[in-house]
Amino acid sequence: MSQVQRSHWTSRIGFVLASAGGAVGLGNIWRFPYMTGENGGSIFILIYLGCVILLGLPVMIAEVLIGKTTQLNPVGAFRQLAGSKSPWQVPGYMGILTAFTILSFYSVVAGWCIAFLYKAVTGVFSSGISFEEINNIFKKLTSSPIEQGIFHSIFMFFTVLIVYAGVKKGLQRWSEILMPLLILIIIILIGYGLTLSGAKDGMRFLLEPQPNKLTHKSIMDAVGQCFFSLSLGMGAMLTYGSYMDRKDKVVSPCLWVVFMDSAIALLAGIAVFTIVFTYTTDLSQGPGLVFVVLPNIFSKMPLGTLFAILFFTLLFFAAITSAISLLEVITAYFIDQYDMPRSHATIIFGTICLIIGVGCIFSGEFFDFLDKLSTHYLLPIGGFMISLFAGWKLDQNIVKSEFQGSWYGIFYYPWLICVRVICPTLILLVFLRAHGVI
Ligand code: PHE
Repeated sequence: MSQVQRSHWTSRIGFVLASAGGAVGLGNIWRFPYMTGENGGSIFILIYLGCVILLGLPVMIAEVLIGKTTQLNPVGAFRQLAGSKSPWQVPGYMGILTAFTILSFYSVVAGWCIAFLYKAVTGVFSSGISFEEINNIFKKLTSSPIEQGIFHSIFMFFTVLIVYAGVKKGLQRWSEILMPLLILIIIILIGYGLTLSGAKDGMRFLLEPQPNKLTHKSIMDAVGQCFFSLSLGMGAMLTYGSYMDRKDKVVSPCLWVVFMDSAIALLAGIAVFTIVFTYTTDLSQGPGLVFVVLPNIFSKMPLGTLFAILFFTLLFFAAITSAISLLEVITAYFIDQYDMPRSHATIIFGTICLIIGVGCIFSGEFFDFLDKLSTHYLLPIGGFMISLFAGWKLDQNIVKSEFQGSWYGIFYYPWLICVRVICPTLILLVFLRAHGVI
């Protein structure tokens, strides 16, 4: 066990910005809009927000609290609370595995963002380029190992650099710089989107409920998206919680993080759909929505190159503040449990993720495998175990003291019901349904 004194965030806002930075990522700006597009718009958003309140917030509070209480990485934390022979260590180990899995393919997608940013800066999306040409640019990129490899490596290099610099000078500092910039860029994009002719249709798509579009798949997608977007079920929030001061309370910072993550997903939805509806009604693009449809639209807009640059900068900022939280989970584990110096841990494990990511570049099936393994299995199973642990095993006096003496005190029992019954049941049902058991 490490003897090195644990670093802490320098302020409460430092925790909120770093954690919101960890949560807000490609999940909000790339995945949320296309999931919403595929699942019928507003009805998906309503279910998603329901999941955020019933699953996301309670599990987030549980994770951050476990981290703050133990001041340890996910494995160390469960070990300390449950004993070193207890099966409750499983979610801890699974968290480390999930961090490797997600970071490897995440960095490849983030590499596409840098590639598109580079293309935007060099004027590739200026007017005159056809839909087919943009489609081909995306296809060419995703089938070129060299091009993808270069941008994937650049992204991983920055990720390692920030985590190498540590909790205060790396994670906190860069989140404090990038998050306000990210919010500013999103506001500019929305301001612009709302002046376009598709603004009304875009907003109607996001706000007008169409219950007939509701399917089992939408519910499963919403649950998966909730865990992915809020970075839950794998100890990322637990690790960030472990850098909180023991004196600080967790409920209100968690409310802020959940609020910011959901607000930014919705704002990204507004920005994307007001722009999309101005030029097309075809929403069946799936993952290509922001890489094919948007650049195509940018190329038709006045000042399109500028907006393309802004948009891909936004994606890059969002991705990097999340990637550092993934690498930090692995780093914290090796620092705490094996006394490894931070510098060694970041370089070694960053390189390992880089290599696994190269596997994703060469094999689309491997990419999909890692994506599905984490979002369909590891995160929900992790979330299931963490909520059961928090509800049934964790000393409830620790939890009660977090809720006491504040306006949110009345929410202790609703929280308890959620983590004891509602979260595990919902996750189990969705999981069984998704795998055809029920
Ligand atoms: N929440 C991040 C996003 O929305 C992804 C992520 C998942 C990051 C799990 C850390 C842990 O893009």
